[in-house]
Amino acid sequence: MSYSRAKSQAWWERAKNSIAGGVGSGVRLAEQPGPLFFERGVGSRLYDVDGNEYIDYVLGQGPLLLGHSPQEVIAAAREQLDCLLISAGQHWLEIEMSERLQRVLPCCDLVRYNGSGSEAVAMALRIARAYTGREKFIKFEGHYHGWPDPVIISYWPDPKDAGPRETPRPIPGSGGMVAHVLDEVIVLPWNDLDLVEQTLKAHAHEVAALITEPIMFNSGGIQPKPGFLEGLRDLCSRYGVVLIFDEVISGFRVGLGGAQEKYGVTPDLATYAKGIAAGFPLSAVAGKREFMDLITQGKVLHGGTYNTHPLVMAGANAAVAYLERERDTVYPHLYAMGDRLRTGLREIGARHGLPTLTTGVGPVVGMAFTQREAFNDYRDYADRDQETYRRFVAALMERGVRPILRGTWYISAAHTEADIDATLDRADDALKAVVG
Ligand SMILES: Cc1ncc(COP(=O)(O)O)c(C=O)c1O
Repeated sequence: MSYSRAKSQAWWERAKNSIAGGVGSGVRLAEQPGPLFFERGVGSRLYDVDGNEYIDYVLGQGPLLLGHSPQEVIAAAREQLDCLLISAGQHWLEIEMSERLQRVLPCCDLVRYNGSGSEAVAMALRIARAYTGREKFIKFEGHYHGWPDPVIISYWPDPKDAGPRETPRPIPGSGGMVAHVLDEVIVLPWNDLDLVEQTLKAHAHEVAALITEPIMFNSGGIQPKPGFLEGLRDLCSRYGVVLIFDEVISGFRVGLGGAQEKYGVTPDLATYAKGIAAGFPLSAVAGKREFMDLITQGKVLHGGTYNTHPLVMAGANAAVAYLERERDTVYPHLYAMGDRLRTGLREIGARHGLPTLTTGVGPVVGMAFTQREAFNDYRDYADRDQETYRRFVAALMERGVRPILRGTWYISAAHTEADIDATLDRADDALKAVVG
């Protein structure tokens, strides 16, 4: 099989004349073997404009938990398209969806919606600041909470610039950010409860929130150490700090109730996007009443022209309805496929003499070339052989397998055992080509 990308390349050249960088989001520029144009997706398969087929583990960067073109979801959206596009009023689907979320998300007394995870995070931080009257928040090095100023800090800093592990320096993730946002954040390494406690002892009077990915999916697929999330819960309660779980990746994916259900730790607020809507642009902040009521009381402003767009709510409601109905089959399948891929990738690395660590939870598989037996925090993850991994991803793309460059593989409910086994055969061949 030979993979020509002539049409994609020509279109990207053309796109650069009208779209900055020729892509719609920064991360797409780094794609191997370069930005591609896609035209069709079915189940686990994605097709580019040159007719190449890929077993897709990018899944739109996570939303496609039910795979490409999930029929039930699309049918619900299609039906809605014929009724009402947008009204700037209320719609029955909002109630149906929100009552579902109350049933499945432990922290959900009340909910509000936006279109992207970044907006949900902004909302959660605003509620926390209004509730506590404090301004700072704690975030962890290597965690991603979206691209706006207040949070795109110390996502993937160069460890050489980022100061000591115990007291990381906040590093802005972009040019054009106002400097004072760096004063509003305290950055800590993840999975170190003692450091969180020391920090809160000294600074709790100025800290509104602690935000964390409950599983560090954006850097290394790292699980919380036993007791870490419970410890965060205790400390936040003790110091009056609002605990926010950013479940944009873990939500609906590691279980219907997300990481909070899996680990049995309930935050004050949680943010959702991606898996909540099977490909439609929906995000949510769900939380306990005492926090969400600030919106009810008009003390916190929350807006958005496109919030609860009926088309989006139709898709999302159908997606969560499907997950609720099929939870006993979908999640065991997702976990079985995740384990199969994880084990197979680790074995392939060993077979080719490359120290390989596989990580993650359930259908989010992490893979890195590293001597380490585990990652605990961002600095561990940063110390991996990313250049060899980049070449591995490029070789996989030549063999019709599309994973995410940072080492993440998303699995959908549509991925089958045969998909995973075909992937592993191709991964074996790709790694053979890489190690020569
Ligand atoms: C954990 C987490 N939070 C927030 C976001 C931001 O979401 P969005 O890209 O929809 O703005 C992301 C995106 O990848 C994410 O992974």
